[in-house]
Amino acid sequence: MTLYTQLYRWYESEKRILPWRETDDPYKIWLSEIILQQTRVAQGMDYYLRLTERFPDVRSLAEADEDEVLLYWQGLGYYSRARNLHKAAKMIAAEAHRYAHGFPDTYEALRQLPGVGDYTAGAIASFAYNLPYPAMDGNVYRVLARLYDCDIAFDTSAGKKHFHQLANEILDTTEPRLFNSAIMEFGALYCTPQSPDCEHCPLRTFCLAAERNTVELLPIRKPRPTLRDRYLNYTLYINKENETLLHRREENDIWKHLWEFPLHETAEAQPHSVHSLSLTHILSHQRLHATFEVKKVEILPTIEGCIKVKINNLDNYALSRLTLKALETLRLN
Ligand code: ADE
Ligand code: SF4
Repeated sequence: MTLYTQLYRWYESEKRILPWRETDDPYKIWLSEIILQQTRVAQGMDYYLRLTERFPDVRSLAEADEDEVLLYWQGLGYYSRARNLHKAAKMIAAEAHRYAHGFPDTYEALRQLPGVGDYTAGAIASFAYNLPYPAMDGNVYRVLARLYDCDIAFDTSAGKKHFHQLANEILDTTEPRLFNSAIMEFGALYCTPQSPDCEHCPLRTFCLAAERNTVELLPIRKPRPTLRDRYLNYTLYINKENETLLHRREENDIWKHLWEFPLHETAEAQPHSVHSLSLTHILSHQRLHATFEVKKVEILPTIEGCIKVKINNLDNYALSRLTLKALETLRLN
């Protein structure tokens, strides 16, 4: 029994049926991989289905307004993914005639698309074109770290290099699509971060970490940077017509091009009234302390850059997840 036969037998019996695995359309595979970059399969599924229905091919996505793309992305977070997706779609559509599949079909060409790093380029190259490149996501790093009992931090440049070497050595170059899908799925479902069932594992005999009792210690990552605290004080004005003010973020900061309520950002926590809602929201490098004060007014104030919107129409604007969470808690729309 080789590692491959064991892994493939496990995969064929345990794999999930996922729509992006049922296609070899590189556009749809690309879209799914961008969605799944920072999103779980269960949450990403709905978005994938709605996005592929509205934008069935790269041309329809390229021709859409960015606002509409962001609206379809609303709630997924990491909105630069959506902006890069749209930007890349325009680039691909403009050059489509140069490619046999109407889509970039080499690792190098894929890697040049905005939002496509080593992982995503490898995933599209192997899943869509069956090209022999590894697709190293967090699941694959974990499985490799354990199989080889490797304690180098995988999220450093030296670690990435080392793990890529391992991945290229172990890659089944006769079946890259099957191999990458199987090892990724094995990490996601079997060789999980906490307490995998090593005793019954189909790869047990190939696993150095299981032999040396280091499974729970692996993989190693570098220490996390501390989060930057920010204090966001929002005012939700409401007049008698049930209208409010919205403002579109333009600066190169978090949530670029998303809409939010008038904001006053402060260096420290503001004393806030008992009527306001407080929420803490964690982004990859920031901890946001947000307050939302609801202010009923006769006339909405004039604030530069703000527009008047019916509360019932807020659905038509791409809002940050924090704003959506506040609206849900306040039950205004
Ligand atoms: N996560 C990232 N890409 C994935 C894929 N193709 N299938 C399942 N989970 C994934
Ligand atoms: Fe993962 Fe345990 Fe299997 Fe090793 S034996 S591959 S650690 S589940």
